[in-house]
Amino acid sequence: MKPIEKLVKDQLRNLKPCVHGGEVLDAASKSGLLREQVLDFSSSVNPLGPSKKALEAAKAGFKEIPAYPDSECNQLREAIAAHYTCINKRNVVVGNGSTELMYLFAEAFMKEGEKAVMAAPTFGEYEGAIRKTGQKTQFVKLGNDFNIAEGTFIKEIADAKLVFLCNPNNPTSLLIPQEILTSIVERALEQDTLVFLDEDFLEFVENQKSLSLIGKIKKYPNLFILRSFTKIYGLTGLRVGYGVANPEIIDVLMCTKIPWNVNCLAQSAAVAALKDEEHLKVTLELIKKEKAWLAAEFSKFRDFKVYPPDANFFFIDIRETGLKAVELTSRLLHQGILIRDCSSFNGLDQYFVRIAVKTHSENARLIDALKQAVKN
Ligand SMILES: Cc1ncc(COP(=O)(O)O)c(C=O)c1O
Repeated sequence: MKPIEKLVKDQLRNLKPCVHGGEVLDAASKSGLLREQVLDFSSSVNPLGPSKKALEAAKAGFKEIPAYPDSECNQLREAIAAHYTCINKRNVVVGNGSTELMYLFAEAFMKEGEKAVMAAPTFGEYEGAIRKTGQKTQFVKLGNDFNIAEGTFIKEIADAKLVFLCNPNNPTSLLIPQEILTSIVERALEQDTLVFLDEDFLEFVENQKSLSLIGKIKKYPNLFILRSFTKIYGLTGLRVGYGVANPEIIDVLMCTKIPWNVNCLAQSAAVAALKDEEHLKVTLELIKKEKAWLAAEFSKFRDFKVYPPDANFFFIDIRETGLKAVELTSRLLHQGILIRDCSSFNGLDQYFVRIAVKTHSENARLIDALKQAVKN
């Protein structure tokens, strides 16, 4: 028989998994620590964890395990529509984490010879999703301030089938100014380009309701908006996210997705999480307070260049410390603190780190560890 490698589709032959934050087990085993000894600032999720009501709903869902879950996630789609009021169930598709929907979207829409455009740096799975289709990715490098240069970006998308935008962006924690966002979506509409707008971190932004484009989907039939239960809802390990768009797009995705893609526990927990507004309120208050505290503490590190964060994580240029991100990350890990070395992001050099906002005692531990790490 031929080597298996020769039987694999060309575009899948040399795929490598994307690097992510949150690899706590791996970090622990590399540094000889137990998982419980590592405090994870590398993945930017709710530091309080999920709502207790969501966990209770997941437990109550145990009795449903012997049956297949609802393949169409009807109850959850209705709950999501009710949460926003301006949309209905036919505007919503649910995925096994929002990542599934990136791959599904690319699979459904990218045809032979077409190209997708995205910023550099941005979240790595957009590129992974396009690479899997065998089509081309074009990166548009962000400027020194990590903002999108409107003119350049619009020029680059001229012959694109699909544009990925992340608002606020990972890893920079920066919002796209609203007028630039609108002008990209409108130009894309004029030229039949689809826009995949990732709003997974928008729920951490104070005036998020006025910044979201969910209310604008009727105006923009080319727009697909991504949301997740991983980040502010903290249902990270259950894997559930969703997309909002016009039924023409949603119907295609509903028919293209695998059946039963979201398990019954995830569906029940997500419905309950949406209803627990108190948990969201407490989370947002904590993030606001701790973000301000961390910003003040980081400003005492004169060699840090801290980009003012719009989301629940900080993006820091540490080159003036003389340390590379890999070195700072390793020094912190020896003290049981895991941060994200951003060197793997396309468009960044080796001097950027990303640090999530956690609870006060955890943030205080981070600052103590940083003082040690930078002093050495
Ligand atoms: C911007 C962004 N979008 C999507 C995801 C994936 O989220 P999910 O857990 O919903 O698949 C991540 C994960 O880090 C992310 O940073």
